[in-house]
Amino acid sequence: MNKVIYVSRGGHTKKLAEAVARGASCTAEALTGATQVTGADTLFVGGAIYAGSLDGKLTSFLRSLTPESARRVAVFGSCASPNASILELVRKEVPGGIEVSSEAYQCLGSFLVIVSAGHPNAADLSGAEQFGKRQAAL
Ligand SMILES: Cc1cc2nc3c(=O)[nH]c(=O)nc-3n(C[C@H](O)[C@H](O)[C@H](O)COP(=O)(O)O)c2cc1C
Repeated sequence: MNKVIYVSRGGHTKKLAEAVARGASCTAEALTGATQVTGADTLFVGGAIYAGSLDGKLTSFLRSLTPESARRVAVFGSCASPNASILELVRKEVPGGIEVSSEAYQCLGSFLVIVSAGHPNAADLSGAEQFGKRQAAL
């Protein structure tokens, strides 16, 4: 069983999450304080960057993961900068002993209308779906 969990303040990462879930043939769920995951095969985790950091709720969730939560974690998300790495931020929070796939999916997400305008676009969503499909097959 695969699972997609995401945090999205503005809706961009939600769109990506739905595309990843389509590719991985599972459902996407917004993270809440009550979210618990046990026994997932691939756990897809999606987020964005806000003032250089992940959302605090996502950080707490990542820190709470155990080897029983999932066989592996695969990361996706969006941010305005082409140089920032969501995978790197996630890796810092996931406890040791849990595999985090070295392939992540990240695309631009518009910010203040003009920065990275138009993203995520149809090509970004298609890339997210393909990512979900590839990762689910591993
Ligand atoms: C308050 C705020 C702070 C942000 N800070 C950053 C940042 O430090 N680096 C970056 O690359 N993008 C930054 N962004 C852009 C978001 O990462 C981008 O819009 C992302 O697609 C938002 O995803 P969401 O719609 O799922 O919340 C910021 C956006 C907001 C609203």
